[in-house]
Amino acid sequence: MRSYSPFDQLIMNADTALRTLVGQPVLTHRPYPADEQAAGETADDSFSAEEKKHIAGLMRVNHSGEVSAQALYQGQSLTSKNRDIKEKLRQAALEENDHLEWTKNRLLELDSHTSLLNPLWYGGSFAIGAFAGAIGDRWNLGFLAETEHQVAAHLEEHLNKLPGGDFRSRAILEQMKTDELKHATTAIEHGAAELPPPVKTLMTAMSKVMTGTAYYL
Ligand SMILES: [Fe+2]
Ligand SMILES: [Fe+2]
Repeated sequence: MRSYSPFDQLIMNADTALRTLVGQPVLTHRPYPADEQAAGETADDSFSAEEKKHIAGLMRVNHSGEVSAQALYQGQSLTSKNRDIKEKLRQAALEENDHLEWTKNRLLELDSHTSLLNPLWYGGSFAIGAFAGAIGDRWNLGFLAETEHQVAAHLEEHLNKLPGGDFRSRAILEQMKTDELKHATTAIEHGAAELPPPVKTLMTAMSKVMTGTAYYL
């Protein structure tokens, strides 16, 4: 794998940030789960206005979570010294781009919008990721595994909160959950350290702030 100068890396990070926030992310071209797995299921016009608003709130939270995941991985990969780990982070980030795109598509289908605070989530998560990347491989991977576990638990919670007939959102979240658990397993297999409980608690608290806000804004 070729190595990049700090300047190259800066430009690549700026490019990814802009693509994540306002542009078109680089995708893996997997099919959109809502069309693939929920083909022919209930159309959105069967939901009440209130239900649509609720589903959009949940999907906005998930989209913001993906913005944060993207920023975390970019930050982690920037400061990590280990090439193999950098490559794993790059692959995971690519799949997170699919998640980003799917949740955004779903929001558009529901006539809604992504979170106005996404630049804030991106900036904060990037800084946390860069810190995790700098403190060493095992912690870096531990941070990745914990993030993915928390996201997967969150997706499970959202699957329970979706209206029963929303097969399209369900298909998206199910595929995302599968991917996140795979990312966590990869991190553990590469030697992730178990994070100290206070760090996990802090991460949960921070994600609560984000999920509580992005549902509305
Ligand atoms: Fe994701
Ligand atoms: Fe993930």
